[in-house]
Amino acid sequence: MNSQGNLGRVAGPGTVQLGWGQRRELSRPPAEGTELGLGAAGAASGSSRHSLRPPSSDGLGQAGAEFCGARRPSPARRAGWATGSTLNRVDNPRQTVTQEPVACGATGTRSCAHRSRGRAQAGRYLPVPSPVLVERVRLLSPLFERQVMSSYPRYATYGRAGIRPSVLSQSFPKPSPEDTKKYYQNDSPLTPHFGSENEAMNFGAARFCAFLDDTIEVEQCLVIPSIVSLRRLGYDMPPTPTQDLFKTVTDEGYHAEQALQYARFLRAEAGLLDSQPRRAPLFLRRLDNLREREPEQSRRDLMTVINGIVTETRIGFELDTFARDDSLAESAREICRTHAEDETIHASQFKALGRWLWHVFDDDTRAAAADFFIASAIARSMPDVDSIATMVYQATSLSLQESRRLVYSVYTEQVLIDQMMAATRATVIYLRHLGVEEYASFSLAVERERERLGAELAARRAAVGGRGS
Ligand SMILES: [Fe+2]
Ligand SMILES: [Fe+2]
Repeated sequence: MNSQGNLGRVAGPGTVQLGWGQRRELSRPPAEGTELGLGAAGAASGSSRHSLRPPSSDGLGQAGAEFCGARRPSPARRAGWATGSTLNRVDNPRQTVTQEPVACGATGTRSCAHRSRGRAQAGRYLPVPSPVLVERVRLLSPLFERQVMSSYPRYATYGRAGIRPSVLSQSFPKPSPEDTKKYYQNDSPLTPHFGSENEAMNFGAARFCAFLDDTIEVEQCLVIPSIVSLRRLGYDMPPTPTQDLFKTVTDEGYHAEQALQYARFLRAEAGLLDSQPRRAPLFLRRLDNLREREPEQSRRDLMTVINGIVTETRIGFELDTFARDDSLAESAREICRTHAEDETIHASQFKALGRWLWHVFDDDTRAAAADFFIASAIARSMPDVDSIATMVYQATSLSLQESRRLVYSVYTEQVLIDQMMAATRATVIYLRHLGVEEYASFSLAVERERERLGAELAARRAAVGGRGS
């Protein structure tokens, strides 16, 4: 155990343990390159693979529930302009249907004129008051609380989904000698370049440890702060969903601890360097950078909340991918499975929160939120090539310079964009249903991101004398 109490084998400031029994001397910690990915970010979508037991039909507690399904013309539609393949110019905006839901006044059990339109109109959605109505109802307190409660989108809680929070039965599995040594899916751009199966396994272990490190940072620096910042926005959240969101902080603390312990065990088992001092991951530095550009504290708080919503719409999908892959080590699949069960619940809560906020936002706030959603979705899911190069260095016999040259050459801007799009697919689908793209273009943001990545990668390749420099 080192001075920081880590079990990872940092035998000394100049020593790096290589995978499973190997060791190499490190004259100094891997130098940080210039910042990659701190530029403006752009947005994204996808289908959730979460499965939930059928929720109850009363009030709160239905997974994936949204609004009644009645639609109102988007601003673009109201102006009579087509904004995409699903929209056409119309003469009578009243007859249009867009992706923007609006309250119809029906509750989950009351009849609704919009129900016959299909799944989204099946009366599962609750009405949401306009900001003006919220303000007027507030003045009519004590009816206010009951009124707002009846307007909050339904979501699954542990009790209603029939799943107990993992904090009640948290397990801390360790890597087992009987396990396969595979801890990460094959990384297609790099796999052909590994010199042996052992190098590929070491790299996979390093990547899974990095994923666990990111998990710790996400829980403590994205999700929990978003719940704290929600109070600062000044919207009158109903008490029950507020309390439910506060409870998730406990879950996230356990997830972080679980990830911390497993990463320690795995680094010790695989002989991987636990680098100290630890630097915040790229996506956090980038999100901090975006937030600091906002001059108003209220906008910075809004972005913090949105970062939480974005990350909670995607992490369950990512965990589920690990849990379902039976080629991976069983202990790694186990911690991902138990974490994913909680995240299925969290995703439903944060999606409901996003819908509620979206419908109480005024138009200016929606426009700002749309930009934040898109920027956050891109920044959160963009691979960090410098971090990947360090993993290659730890897992192989390549020098740090050679590792960077390899990673910068195989991780082209197209590969990075493709991996980002895959990781953020579930988020992008959610944002599209929310109506975000009526205020900001995800595709345009991705193209700006591609240009920025191209310039940054060219500079990195030039710095290491790589191909394309
Ligand atoms: Fe979590
Ligand atoms: Fe969560």
